[in-house]
Amino acid sequence: MMKLVSILIFFLSMPLAAASAAESNDSIAAWQQVEKVLLHPRCLNCHSAGDSPRQADDRHVHQFRVFNGHEGKGKPGALCIGCHQTSNQTSGVPGASNWQHAPASMTWESSPGIAMKGRQLCQSLRDPKKNGDRNLAALVEHLRTEPLVLWAWSPGKNARGEARTTPPLSHEELISYASLWSNTGGKCPP
Ligand code: HEC
Ligand code: HEC
Repeated sequence: MMKLVSILIFFLSMPLAAASAAESNDSIAAWQQVEKVLLHPRCLNCHSAGDSPRQADDRHVHQFRVFNGHEGKGKPGALCIGCHQTSNQTSGVPGASNWQHAPASMTWESSPGIAMKGRQLCQSLRDPKKNGDRNLAALVEHLRTEPLVLWAWSPGKNARGEARTTPPLSHEELISYASLWSNTGGKCPP
């Protein structure tokens, strides 16, 4: 009898296991779309490791000896908001409200100039101890509404008057993939 029951349970659980494997694959595929945005210079330049933000698509260290300072807001005499206004300036200084560098725990580089990827980036982003105590839904909400995130899709022109590039997905696409990732348990690649 016991044997029969366990055989039954085994067969009954097969479609469940298959469904959850499929869900996990969907989740990882959705993450891989989200990751394409995170790794774009418009995001990574503020989520960089080291003492300074980075600039432009070549991700060079911020000019004028600008340092993050202990809260990411710059150092006295060179505060971010001393130059960065709440909107992009025609002079080439980009802007959005509360312009500042991401906190050190929200760095998406393993060392200055070297981006994390895959499992390492995914786990770091998911970790409430690093991500500002956010669960998956709060992460999606941040992506959906935060002005510094939205700025990446209207980043203005640089000091030479050239339009800055934007992430490879539209903001709507990012939110739909991020929601799918979150709704399928926010799985990270192996
Ligand atoms: C002395 C003025 C000044 C200060 C202070 C300053 N910035 Fe900038 N920043 C600029 C200018 C000018 C540019 C545009 C350069 C260009 O695109 O040619 C820029 C560009 C950037 C970019 C590049 C955007 C991109 O993706 O290309 C980031 C990120 C950035 N600043 C972050 C910061 C942060 C964070 C702080 C404070 C820790 C800060 N900046 C302080 C003047 C300043
Ligand atoms: C001007 C600098 C700046 C830019 C540009 C920027 N961020 Fe951030 N980001 C921050 C700061 C500062 C925080 C911390 C704010 C908080 O916790 O509420 C942050 C926090 C986050 C978080 C919270 C979780 C974590 O671990 O990082 C996410 C997610 C995020 N940013 C995504 C993005 C994405 C995606 C882009 C590009 C589309 C982007 N950011 C562009 C400065 C920036």
